[in-house]
Amino acid sequence: MSNQPRHVAIIMDGNGRWAEMKGKTRTFGHEQGAETVRAITTYCAQHSEIEQLTLYAFSTENWKRPKIEVEFLMKLLERYLKSERSTYLEGNIRFEPIGDLSIFSKSLRNVIDDVQNATSACNGLVQNLALNYGSRDEIVRAANSLKNTETITVESLSAALDCTHDVDLLIRTGGDHRLSNFLLWQAAYAELFFTNTLWPDFAPNELEAIIKKFKTVERRFGGLA
Ligand code: FPP
Repeated sequence: MSNQPRHVAIIMDGNGRWAEMKGKTRTFGHEQGAETVRAITTYCAQHSEIEQLTLYAFSTENWKRPKIEVEFLMKLLERYLKSERSTYLEGNIRFEPIGDLSIFSKSLRNVIDDVQNATSACNGLVQNLALNYGSRDEIVRAANSLKNTETITVESLSAALDCTHDVDLLIRTGGDHRLSNFLLWQAAYAELFFTNTLWPDFAPNELEAIIKKFKTVERRFGGLA
């Protein structure tokens, strides 16, 4: 039987370059990137073999960007979640934030809570949105939450992470070949795909082609064929 991409994770890179190539501001690229988030999420929701889609929207390192860009991204996230609430519900998509949300403004946290609560009974695709997320931070928080347990095991640490599902297929757009502190634990046996396509141009047909290729890969998980 071919591999099923039950958990697809994406590093959405290239919004800024996409906009600059068009002579526009980087924020225009993020705006367009949000459209791609909607299109890719909808595609995944319509393909039932995909159970989890995890998207890297804002990293623990992204705070180093210019204040104006960070503020724009915060407002865009809030606007996106508000306007897409009905898309989640109509598509039977459960929204799950991952990352340390404590740093966000009260209004953004309220919208995150609202969409998470509203979609909690949806049993189709789970969209995990990584917000103020860094894999090292996630692992340290998980380890700290277990510090009073006698022995930490692979299973107990996995279960204490924000994202408790192993990744099958990890894609990075935008041409760079690195993981940038994304799902380091969960991607231990993921198949990695890198594309030069900038995130705003990443369309469902390219995802479909990557999945087709993924299905032909022999996954051995350290064993033999
Ligand atoms: C990295 O590439 C991308 C980000 C830091 C932000 C990702 C945000 C979105 C895809 C849009 C908003 C998300 C949601 C869920 C509404 P970059 O834009 O810094 O690109 P560059 O490498 O070309 O500079």
